[in-house]
Amino acid sequence: MAILELKNVSAGYGRNTILKDFCISIEEGKLVSLLGSSGCGKTTTLRTMAGFIDVSQGQFFFDGQDYTHRPIHKRGFGYVFQSYALFPHLNVFENVAFGLKRQHVGKAEIQTRVTEMLSRVGLAGFADRLPADMSGGQRQRVALARALVLKPRVLLMDEPLSNLDARLRVEMRVEIRRLQQEMGITAVYVTHDQEECFSISDQVAIMNNGRIEQMDTPVHIYSHPVNEFTARFVGFENFVPLTRENGRYASASGTVFEAEGTAPKLKAACRPDDLQLVPGHEGGVMCLRGRIVVATFLGKQMQYLVNTKEGDYLVNTAADTLYAPNDPVTIFFPAEKTIYTTDEA
Ligand SMILES: Nc1ncnc2c1ncn2[C@@H]1O[C@H](COP(=O)(O)OP(=O)(O)O)[C@@H](O)[C@H]1O
Ligand SMILES: [Mg+2]
Repeated sequence: MAILELKNVSAGYGRNTILKDFCISIEEGKLVSLLGSSGCGKTTTLRTMAGFIDVSQGQFFFDGQDYTHRPIHKRGFGYVFQSYALFPHLNVFENVAFGLKRQHVGKAEIQTRVTEMLSRVGLAGFADRLPADMSGGQRQRVALARALVLKPRVLLMDEPLSNLDARLRVEMRVEIRRLQQEMGITAVYVTHDQEECFSISDQVAIMNNGRIEQMDTPVHIYSHPVNEFTARFVGFENFVPLTRENGRYASASGTVFEAEGTAPKLKAACRPDDLQLVPGHEGGVMCLRGRIVVATFLGKQMQYLVNTKEGDYLVNTAADTLYAPNDPVTIFFPAEKTIYTTDEA
């Protein structure tokens, strides 16, 4: 059952409405990510849930209660910012204890809870350290501890790893997932990084222009994107426009694709890794003939840009397959790896 639900919510900044008729439903104990490019409204959604931004239309339900206009401090949600937002003059212990003090929790209990939380996030022994004397990853752990020590009903995280280098990002995302699962916390996680998002989430909501394009499990979105926008987000490229004629779908140059459906137009798409390349010009269903334009060495693979009558397509092959610019090749779209979308993104 959903614990957190936005129902047809409109919200934004003054007259600039960013979320229009926005709906999302999140189950208890799950980690749901909002994924989308910069400016699509992820932070606005998180800030609306937290109560920093007023809902102008629609409703927000939490645990069966109407939270639409509930003040921020009465929501009991935790918030982790991209910039950590630690108090620079307070040491680690005091930073984590800050919210508990404000809630007038007794000294002994503060001592116990902060100490326990610091050890949970791997910072036992750092209590006296000032934020300035810590690495980015350690500061983000303090920020997490500070939010989690208050036992929030929901943990809202806004691109918490974006200031860390690549290796630390991978380490910390595993850490965040572990803590979230151990503590059974409902969490909303904002990111623009597809891999990060898919690796830690129970569900992913792909956002575009203040709306959710698709929300589902990472595995399902990965293999069944509903439209071109989400397909591109999960690595599909190589879109071939198709038109339905005489009961079959064909590309502009006449190649038949084995698509089902009745829509007048479709697009076939395949990931660069899944396309197959053969030398020379072969005919047949789901094959496009072309010539190599650029060959790029990717380490484990070669990537070829192939020009066809339909346009340019990217194909990744094993590193020992070597074609030179201008070589004639045929691109084959394997049926089980090809998806068909109906919309324009
Ligand atoms: N304080 C603000 N005042 C006015 N417009 C804002 C403000 N913050 C963000 N916006 C606008 O709202 C839109 C969504 O922004 P945001 O939610 O921050 O996107 P994201 O987090 O996905 O990058 C953008 O067009 C942005 O310019
Ligand atoms: Mg943002």
